[in-house]
Amino acid sequence: MTERLVIIQPDDWHLHLRDGAALASVAPFTARRFRRAVVMPNLRPPVTNTEQALAYRQRILDALPRDTSFDPLMTLYLTDNTSPKVISEAAACEHVVGVKLYPAGATTNSDFGVTRLDKTEPALEQMAALGMPLLVHGEVTDKTDVFEREKRFIDSVLAPLAQRHPQLKIVLEHITTSDAVAFVNTGRPGLAATVTPQHLLMNRNDLFAGGVRPHHFCLPVLKHERHREAVMEAATSGSARFFLGTDSAPHARSSKETACGCAGIFSAHAGIELYAEAFEQAGRLEQLQKFASENGPDFYGLPRNTDTITLVREPWQVPVSYPFLDNDPLVPLRSGETISWRLENPRHD
Ligand code: NCD
Ligand code: ZN
Repeated sequence: MTERLVIIQPDDWHLHLRDGAALASVAPFTARRFRRAVVMPNLRPPVTNTEQALAYRQRILDALPRDTSFDPLMTLYLTDNTSPKVISEAAACEHVVGVKLYPAGATTNSDFGVTRLDKTEPALEQMAALGMPLLVHGEVTDKTDVFEREKRFIDSVLAPLAQRHPQLKIVLEHITTSDAVAFVNTGRPGLAATVTPQHLLMNRNDLFAGGVRPHHFCLPVLKHERHREAVMEAATSGSARFFLGTDSAPHARSSKETACGCAGIFSAHAGIELYAEAFEQAGRLEQLQKFASENGPDFYGLPRNTDTITLVREPWQVPVSYPFLDNDPLVPLRSGETISWRLENPRHD
């Protein structure tokens, strides 16, 4: 059995860092493990232009030690009004790597999202022309059954969009179904997907294990075991189209443990360790480096990292909570339980 695993330092291609005090409490977890992360723009109000993205990037760097080597890769939030000029400015900035499509109302802080896709056509055309990737929260927002929303979105929105813009690079974020796997595997070049640790390690039973489990609630919601198996097979297959995106999405305990708890799972405290566990379960540890450290930069046209990290097969206990807001901590994935892989050489920044 493999006891130590040395891989090229990974990147996180889908991450929520929030802002202010919350940002300062979560950013170090990611910076310790990952060289780069694609930072989601769903702040309140959202990040909609390059100037705001650069200001946010500076706040992230200010929350970390001065000598950090962590490189936040920024995204813009697509709205009905995003102009081609906003896209050209973003494409000209080395720190902005993508534009995020949230269908309005699909998830946390998505109320400013796109209400009518046809309004975004000029922006999408410009993105295709300039090689700026579209990052997609792939769920419809109508009354469709919550477990069917990803498939419905692919069939009714994403497949036609990918056809209308054959040059547009598209990342279907946090995939959860065999339908998403099939769409990405059989689609045209320029299509890829990120996969979270929770969608590899859990299925929808984990929402109700012994009672309702608010800390296992994220969007897209956990799915049937057969979908988890398909997503696991895709992520560990060695295909270049699938890469690591934790979707770590911190929320204070009081907004998770309540009558109407919000969506989002915090996993940055074990953002690479959980994937090592998943790949070991699949008997595919040898594919972890491709998924975590190679496929992402290759898709985005960025260099692969040169440093390495070492993971050791040594269980550790996750704290019950981490400090987050004043008197309102954060409950991490696996709170109070063990994770079977540990990072041996965490960067102390
Ligand atoms: C994310 C958040 O909290 O910002 N929540 C989630 O459940 N994944 C938003 C998102 O990515 O959908
Ligand atoms: Zn997300």
